[in-house]
Amino acid sequence: MKSITKTAILTGSTGGIGLEIARSLAMQGWDLGLINRSQEKTNFQLEDLRKSYPNQEFVGFVANLMDVLDIRRVAAEIGSRYAEVSALYNIAGLLTEKRIMSPQNIEGHFAINTLAPYYLTQLLRKELSAGATTDRHSVVVNFSSSAMNGVKDLDVATLTNPESIGGLMGAYAKSKAALTAVSHLVKEELLEDGILIEVVDPGPTKTSMTGSSDGMPWFLLLLRPLIFKSAKFQAQRLVDAVETAVTEKKSGLFISEGRQKAYPSIALNKHSQIDIKLLLDTQVQLFAVEDTQKDAVN
Ligand SMILES: NC(=O)c1ccc[n+]([C@@H]2O[C@H](COP(=O)([O-])OP(=O)(O)OC[C@H]3O[C@@H](n4cnc5c(N)ncnc54)[C@H](OP(=O)(O)O)[C@@H]3O)[C@@H](O)[C@H]2O)c1
Repeated sequence: MKSITKTAILTGSTGGIGLEIARSLAMQGWDLGLINRSQEKTNFQLEDLRKSYPNQEFVGFVANLMDVLDIRRVAAEIGSRYAEVSALYNIAGLLTEKRIMSPQNIEGHFAINTLAPYYLTQLLRKELSAGATTDRHSVVVNFSSSAMNGVKDLDVATLTNPESIGGLMGAYAKSKAALTAVSHLVKEELLEDGILIEVVDPGPTKTSMTGSSDGMPWFLLLLRPLIFKSAKFQAQRLVDAVETAVTEKKSGLFISEGRQKAYPSIALNKHSQIDIKLLLDTQVQLFAVEDTQKDAVN
């Protein structure tokens, strides 16, 4: 097992904002473990990073983050590769107006945007704790969105299988509100292990997620060329803001477009926070049990 002091794990690094965050962190000297679903895109990215920064270590991991069992497998791979992890950027996200169900029959937005970051954080907690030093806490960075400001009611009972999907202002916004709420709740327990947790909203960004009509309202598509910023710009100010939070040892910040802001009220309801955490823990335990039973049969 290799012990490194400054390793960051990133999900969704092969495109959009994640690609630029990986470049920015690599430029600052980080070793990177990159979790993506495409082996081909990951190989291409690794080649590029290794060419630019030959003295750093870049490792690719392949996983479909919509699949709870894949998340468990990849977390185990990361655990056997790294004793210490100093940052986890949960970047991978889904925006669509189609109904996509995960292998465990969980609605896709909730599976990738809420469950995956929550579960990966839990699974890598030991490595993140080991990556914290007296001078520098480890950090989990969860990706939210201002779309959640439009969420009026976070009906926890329907999150895993909502009646309608509704794109940006529907299941996507709710999944981000749920992630923001649960991130706020777990900050105390993570801090006990030397881990900070920050929620970031990169702001409107020109990436493939916002480039098609699948999930994007028509008026935002019209405004996109005028008000959406480049992924490189958003990534840089996001990484800078996270670094400032870590330097100041501040946890539980909501950082929107590079600046600390107040949490949207939808994410601050304590009952919802507890219910969402309970839902996530139940999902995770349910499929952990199924997996163990499958192993026993095989
Ligand atoms: N763009 C914006 O304006 C904006 C605004 C607010 C928040 N955000 C959030 O910022 C994050 C990055 O967004 P982006 O605009 O950069 O999105 P993007 O360009 O669509 O990139 C999303 C990344 O997630 C990966 N991904 C998607 N589904 C996956 C799965 N099942 N398993 C593993 N990886 C998967 C994608 O991999 P592939 O390349 O294989 O598809 C890609 O690397 C997301 O969480 C998004 O919700 C974006």
